[in-house]
Order: sequence, then C-alpha cells, then structure tokens
Amino acid sequence: MNIPLPMNTSAESWPTARYVDLRPSSESFLGAVISGLGAGRKSLPSKFFYDERGSRLFDRICELPEYYPTRTEMALMTDIAPELRALVPEGAELVEFGSGSSRKVRILLDAVAAFAAYVSIDISGDYLKQMASALACDYPALDVLAVSADYTQPIDLAHWEGCSRPRVGFFPGSTIGNLTPEDAVAFLENARRILGPGGGFIVGADLKKDAGILHAAYNDAAGVTAAFNLNLLVRINSELGGDFDLAAFHHRAHYNQEKGRIEMYLVSDRDQTARIDGHSFDFTEGETIHTENSHKYTVEEFQRIAERAGFIAQRAWTDENQLFSIHYLEVSSD
Ligand code: AVJ
Repeated sequence: MNIPLPMNTSAESWPTARYVDLRPSSESFLGAVISGLGAGRKSLPSKFFYDERGSRLFDRICELPEYYPTRTEMALMTDIAPELRALVPEGAELVEFGSGSSRKVRILLDAVAAFAAYVSIDISGDYLKQMASALACDYPALDVLAVSADYTQPIDLAHWEGCSRPRVGFFPGSTIGNLTPEDAVAFLENARRILGPGGGFIVGADLKKDAGILHAAYNDAAGVTAAFNLNLLVRINSELGGDFDLAAFHHRAHYNQEKGRIEMYLVSDRDQTARIDGHSFDFTEGETIHTENSHKYTVEEFQRIAERAGFIAQRAWTDENQLFSIHYLEVSSD
C-alpha cells in the first residue's frame, strides 16, 4: 500500500550528526603483524583486538562478574554527576576520545546536562556514524559532530565547528592504561591542545589494588578474555591468510608488580611454525607474544602524569572499594 507523504517532509527535518573524515591512510594490519612477530620478543599491538568479533567479545568482558572496571566506573559516574555538573562550564561541548561507550556518554548528557554539543572522535568510520546519529536522534537539542580521525594526532576542531565553546574531553574505561606512562603523557598533551584554553578533561583510570582481584579480572572463569586475546590469531588467519593452530596457543595474563600493569600474552604450547603471506614465524614451547599492557595508577600517580602533560588535576573520585578512579583535569592557562 502507498501512503502519501505530506508535502513538506524532507530528510533534513531529522536531527542529524555532521560527519568529518580525517582518517590517515589505512595503517596495515599485515605490516604490524610482520614486524611484531619478527622481533626478538614477539608482540602484537592491542588496538587490533577490536574488529567486530573482538568488540563483541570486549562487550561480554564488561559484563563478567570478575571484570569490575565497567560497572564500577558507571556507578561512580552516576554518583558524582552533581559534582561534575558544578565543574563543567555551562554550554560546553563534550568531546569523546573513542566512541565505544555510548552508555557512559549518555550518563553525562543526562546527569551533567550542561552540554550544548557532543563531538565524537574515533578512528573507525561506520560505528562512529551510527552512534552519532543515534545520539542526535535521542538528544535533538544537541549539536552532534562525528570526527573520524586518529586522536593521538593534532586535530583542529575549531575548523569544523560553527562557533567556539569551552571543550570538555571524555576518555573513560581506563583505555589510557594501554599506554605506558610516557605515552600517556604524550597522549594527554595532544588532548590538551585539542581541548584548548578553558577546557576540562574527564578521564577514567583503573586503580592499583590487590593482585588477586586483578588476576581474576583478566583470567575470567568463562574464558571470554582468553577468546578475546586469541581473536588476534583468528584475525591473522582469516584476514591475512595465516595458518596459526588456534588450539596450540593459550591465554596468559599476570600483574607485573614492578611496572604496575597487567600484561597479556599468547603462549605457544609447543615448538611450532606459523606462516603468514609467505613469511614464517618459529615458536618454541612456552614462547610468548605480548599482546596488551593495562597500567594501574594510584590517584596521585595519575595526577602526576596529568600535571606533566600541562593539566591541573582539579578533582578525583574513587568508589568505596577503591577499585576505580575518575579524574577532572583542567587545561592550565600557560
Ligand atoms: C579497554 C584497555 C581498558 O585494559 O582492562 C579487558 C581491555 N583487556 N580485558 C583493560 C581488556 C582484557 C581493557 N581496556
């Protein structure tokens, strides 16, 4: 049946997200794999965990009983929303670094409410667009801008915006823990320049704690973290034509006390050789591929890193069990 449309209906009447594509020329997964597995100590970059299957596995990790960060951060954010509201400049724009956490952004938009605009910066294109359009529909009064870009590089947001407002960054989930402390300082310095004078930054950072709690969180009983880790080899096989025997590697995660970080590895169960695109890689029994670091900070350690990057560590909150911290940083004026 044909239902006639009213004459004045047009696509432009929908709230829409503007989209800007500043993506660098595609960084090769193959190149990173060949150089990482060719090194004396084998490693693979943790950013390659997140293809569609890996993102779904990570969502399942966030629901695990042992994985406390996600639910602790969400509850803490809800608790501190009134205090955040007092710190966030009225009419600011919320700039999210990475767009994987729509649920967390919604807590801020609902409870802090001071925001006039939302800008999402993420290297992915499609997921970013979907998320931004959904937010634009649900918050029709909000200006929404999706910027597809590498947020570790300089980005001039003013160029894409119609007007200038104070910017408040948002980097939840302790994603910053993937970086070494030195790289975290560099990331924060770049973010500070993107946010600009008068800006703030809301950052989630996982706390140092009893190693038993950390061990359980990264070695869950259901084996989801193991599947997430092994997904790197699944991707190498399916996308790069690798011939890894997935049954001959296992997941290992342990807390490195000295470096204050969880380290994840894939461990070879036997002597074996894997081939990828004409290259071959030998493994001895017990040899490891280092796949992820997840740094843990005391409140003071993280504040020190923020200050090294030119922020003023204005406030920090922790949950009652001292599992997770949320920081409000201000861009210092000099
Ligand atoms: C997304 C980097 C915050 O380090 O806890 C979860 C990734 N790895 N389980 C973390 C992860 C294994 C996660 N971050």
